[in-house]
Amino acid sequence: MENKGTPNGAASISIGGKDLGLPILKGTLGPDVVDIRKLYGETDVFTYDPGFTSTAACESQITFIDGDKGVLLHRGYPIGQLAEQSSFLEVCYLLLNGELPTADELTKFERTITLHTMLHDQMDRFFQGFRRDAHPMAVMVGTVGALSAFYHDSTDITDLQQRTISAHRLIAKMPTLAARAYKYTIGQPFIYPRNELGYAENFLRMCFAVPAEDYQVNPVLAKAMDKIFILHADHEQNASTSTVRLAGSSGANPFACIAAGIACLWGPAHGGANEEALNMLKEIGTVDRIPEYVQGVKDRKYRLMGFGHRVYKNYDPRAKVMQQTCHEVLAETGHGDDPLLKVAMELEKIALNDPYFVERKLYPNVDFYSGITLRALGFPAEMFTVLFALARTVGWIAQWKEMIEDPSQKIGRPRQLYTGPAMRDYTPVDKRG
Ligand code: ACO
Repeated sequence: MENKGTPNGAASISIGGKDLGLPILKGTLGPDVVDIRKLYGETDVFTYDPGFTSTAACESQITFIDGDKGVLLHRGYPIGQLAEQSSFLEVCYLLLNGELPTADELTKFERTITLHTMLHDQMDRFFQGFRRDAHPMAVMVGTVGALSAFYHDSTDITDLQQRTISAHRLIAKMPTLAARAYKYTIGQPFIYPRNELGYAENFLRMCFAVPAEDYQVNPVLAKAMDKIFILHADHEQNASTSTVRLAGSSGANPFACIAAGIACLWGPAHGGANEEALNMLKEIGTVDRIPEYVQGVKDRKYRLMGFGHRVYKNYDPRAKVMQQTCHEVLAETGHGDDPLLKVAMELEKIALNDPYFVERKLYPNVDFYSGITLRALGFPAEMFTVLFALARTVGWIAQWKEMIEDPSQKIGRPRQLYTGPAMRDYTPVDKRG
């Protein structure tokens, strides 16, 4: 890759009487960046930025977010257009390859992914090792990491073809793994993938069919599932993607790196938020209890889950599509009068007009409506983050590939502001007071 932006002047910094010029680089879109790579070598100081609120940790050409304007672009294409007009596998192709495919390229790509949907037969035994009540995200962390033990022929990260095959395998096998994680917890037999079905259709069937009775996939629900996958496909350098990049920077194999990303996604401040948002709506229960709940948020007893975002200080563009998809799914499944939907819509209205939330620029994020939608599709709350992981796998692997293929890539090794004890002598235990 090595584009490294366009030079756009220089910043100067004066430290301990020494002046240093730092180049400023301009990307295609977004804020300029001050290139501080020489700072430590020349001035003996680090920068301090816990939470990376002012730090661009890499150069990337995949996804762009303008958080103030509520814009999300994948390879330049707005998320709203992709969600309305594209398919998840086409978005996967776009994220991985940089351009939309021709019709032939798309057919070939869909066929390639389809051919990788099965798991090594012995992998099924892995599932048997988990407790039946294991959280499916725990099962995903374990089984995705275990892929590295089964697909040795795609773990050489220096080989382009192996990198590509590992990307295809991950995208193809994730629905099979996720469906098995679900089936295992409910004690039903695993359902094998069917290659004549589309990506989302196949996933729904693997989750909801049983050997005794097949499952006719509802096309409206399959389309909604596909759209939900598109909405979660990539999101720039978020916590789990940065985890994948950091894990991959040491040369770890892609399956292990994606397992690390899944572990990070699990947390309630990240992918776990949709489960928490649904729990919150259930806890509120009825519209009349909203004011009391909102007061609790203002008293800082808890946060409004599904609200706020580190980057979006405007409406999350994915939340708009998700809200519409939510209405479509609820209408199709006959849950149009779901009381939780009423609570969500009223809560959103109140929060968007309340100075506490307005002043802090807190808007609904993609997770606010996704919980109710996924519940109407038939998924239990524990599966919500698993579905997020399934969809985000393409973003993780595209970002991982971009990093590995960047000639300036180095192992990620942050430094620190040390505030622990200065050097002191060891005291034997009998001399300690
Ligand atoms: N409810 C109430 N207040 C909030 C919320 C919220 N959901 N989010 C932020 N705030 C408040 C904070 O209390 C703080 O107020 P203060 O300045 O008076 O102290 C201010 O807004 C800024 O909050 P930070 O924590 O500094 O914002 P940050 O950017 O670090 O947090 C985060 C982003 C973690 C997403 C946060 O908004 C949050 O916890 N939201 C709820 C969880 C959630 O929905 N996560 C999903 C994110 S989207 C995704 O992962 C797909």
